[in-house]
Amino acid sequence: MTLQLPVTLGAYTLEALLAKGGMAEVYRARDEAGKTYAVKVLDSAFARRRAVRARFEAESRALLALQHPNVIRVVAVGQEGAAYMVMELAEGGSLADWVARNGPMPPRLAVDVLLEICAGVQAAHEQGIVHRDLKPENVLIDANGRCKVADFGIAKFLAPDEASLTRTGTVLGTFAYMSPEQRRDPAHVDVRSDVYALGATLHALLTDRTETDLFTWDRDPRLLAGVPEPLVPALQHALAFAVADRVPSVAALAERLVAVRPSLSPVPAGTAPLGGRRRVHAAEPTGMGAIARPRTVLVTEDDPTMRKIVALVLGDAGYQVLLAEDGPSALKLADAYAGFIDLLIIDLVLPGEPGTYVATALGRARPGVPLLFMTGHSAERLVQRGIDLGDRPVLKKPFSPEQVLQAARRAMGEASGSES
Ligand SMILES: Nc1ncnc2c1ncn2[C@@H]1O[C@H](COP(=O)(O)OP(=O)(O)O)[C@@H](O)[C@H]1O
Ligand SMILES: [Mg+2]
Repeated sequence: MTLQLPVTLGAYTLEALLAKGGMAEVYRARDEAGKTYAVKVLDSAFARRRAVRARFEAESRALLALQHPNVIRVVAVGQEGAAYMVMELAEGGSLADWVARNGPMPPRLAVDVLLEICAGVQAAHEQGIVHRDLKPENVLIDANGRCKVADFGIAKFLAPDEASLTRTGTVLGTFAYMSPEQRRDPAHVDVRSDVYALGATLHALLTDRTETDLFTWDRDPRLLAGVPEPLVPALQHALAFAVADRVPSVAALAERLVAVRPSLSPVPAGTAPLGGRRRVHAAEPTGMGAIARPRTVLVTEDDPTMRKIVALVLGDAGYQVLLAEDGPSALKLADAYAGFIDLLIIDLVLPGEPGTYVATALGRARPGVPLLFMTGHSAERLVQRGIDLGDRPVLKKPFSPEQVLQAARRAMGEASGSES
């Protein structure tokens, strides 16, 4: 598919193709203020396939649930013709790129990098999400040299009633980094599969080799050749064949690495920096506690300019925004993000069906989620047209950015005070 650029989706103008994946394309994009982002757009050829759509949605849902300095942040998700996801842009390429350019990573740096990844993955685990596809290609580096876990495309929610997106028998992901149990039965893995993948990732960073069956290290000692002595026991423990023998959690793996770190030589001067610039400091693990998920607003508005304004204002204020251009898109998003939506903002006049109809359908699907209408019509005009909003809050067009923010905050029961 490859879009004819420039294309505007929500508040973001797509400028250049960054990468073409299996089912999606990733573009560099810019908002009105000139800030850059990465936008992943689901390939229209795949969008009709339920399983692919479900995976794309699961990925954005996983990222929406997470807010951590070591996880790629999603700022908006939308449905405008194509389904898309707006993320922070990681300009420094992936860890795989770094190793391809520079060869094996100095052990101390590899451990620091791994501690950052562990912090991000731990945050995912605390939200009940297993990544299932951790590998150097899926850890991206931002301009400050910070590592960000990306590509939650086959992530799995551990919720007991969650239907698995990977049917038994379809093994998605990359074999070399995949635990033996995930290769056998991808639907029934837990956090320890991610521990295995983290061990395999550390191995790849240290050796610049991709070995397919690292869990056979006990039979083939050559597999761990090149791993510095102090790291061997922790790595063996992370790469244990049997789940029960493995390091039990990412936090435990991080602890092991922190304990070993002082015995590794300092990173040699002249080592290529991660990301664009020199690394600012030796990484401290950025805290294992997950940060609360930001509030999420679903905006249904057919006018692209209005949609853009609302997206920009709410995005700047730190909200995550789901954007829909019409009723069916809104219902799809509401369905995909059930449980994540804190506010519905709905334009009263939408193509196809009135916003009140959409609101009713959404309200039925999402009881208890506050609602805010937008309209350019006067109250009298609405009554004339037979629309009774009762005492539901209404945002009158045209509105200023402050009015959008105030109305949204009030509708969610947040203080709409004078904080900027
Ligand atoms: N937030 C981002 N910033 C910069 N580049 C990105 C970002 N997300 C993805 N990419 C680029 O797009 C590629 C594919 O994205 P990814 O999420 O890994 O999807 P896939 O499932 O196709 O592997 C990445 O390897 C990376 O080069
Ligand atoms: Mg990937």
